[in-house]
Amino acid sequence: MSRIIDGKAISALERQRIKSQTESFINESGIVPGLAVIIVGEDPASKVYVKNKHKGCLDMGFVSKIYELPENTEERELLNLIDALNLDNEIHGILVQLPLPKHLDEKKVIARINPEKDVDAFHTQNVGKIVLGEYDFLPCTPAGIMVLLRESGVTIEGKECVIIGRSNIVGKPMALLMLHANATVTICHSKSVNLPEITRRADILIVAVGKEKFVKADMVKEGAVVIDVGMNRDGNGKLCGDVDFEEVLKVASAITPVPGGVGPMTITMLLQNTLTAAKKFALQKNNLFYRRKTQKRRKNY
Ligand code: GUN
Repeated sequence: MSRIIDGKAISALERQRIKSQTESFINESGIVPGLAVIIVGEDPASKVYVKNKHKGCLDMGFVSKIYELPENTEERELLNLIDALNLDNEIHGILVQLPLPKHLDEKKVIARINPEKDVDAFHTQNVGKIVLGEYDFLPCTPAGIMVLLRESGVTIEGKECVIIGRSNIVGKPMALLMLHANATVTICHSKSVNLPEITRRADILIVAVGKEKFVKADMVKEGAVVIDVGMNRDGNGKLCGDVDFEEVLKVASAITPVPGGVGPMTITMLLQNTLTAAKKFALQKNNLFYRRKTQKRRKNY
């Protein structure tokens, strides 16, 4: 019998924890964590994500600023806005919602964000730190998956982990996090040969391909843990994942649903990253009161 991993419940607990840490931080430092989100254009899915990020921030007691720029925004204008936010002491995290309209160079835009405010962890400096295992921020979706696994009591060390999908946002960083957690890791992609043979080796199967119900039961080993990162609409407009949930439920030992699995964790980890960025800012600003308090607390451990 398969166990459904409840991302909503785990996310709610994590948010309670982040909220109480935020309250202590604000009391000790007088600094309110602030997130700026920039969205360019009218993509309906992106608009929903941005609205949820705004709501998440307000629930935490953060400052939340949303910048909605028109589809025809020139690159120079977007870069100027990022420059201003990089200098804004009330803003500790900056997120540019992707995808951007075609005429804007995503790499150039991400490179412009101060790495210390890069709460997506997409800047090359932060990606490099993740490779070395010395990071301040983790990309939100892979970080959320690690929390889901931890909170569900899934052991990672020594396990075979197969990831389908090699995107910069999910597949590649996910592989690194599993490697840091001592799993044996395989990344599959559209050119992989005999995919079911590879996926059937997985103790932990993570699927991020963006194809509706792509993973069927015959691709999953009996007792595997299956994490579905997909967010697709089926023929009836209903939200569904990359995994055929009903089928795979019968063979997996644990599985995340869509919706209600990985999705809720992503914004939660963004909130965590924003708080982390604000804490780093407080220490760098040589906020002596905050520094004294945190040092005193560390001694008590
Ligand atoms: N678009 C889809 N997922 C993400 C994400 O995690 N960060 C940003 N900036 N854009 C996205």
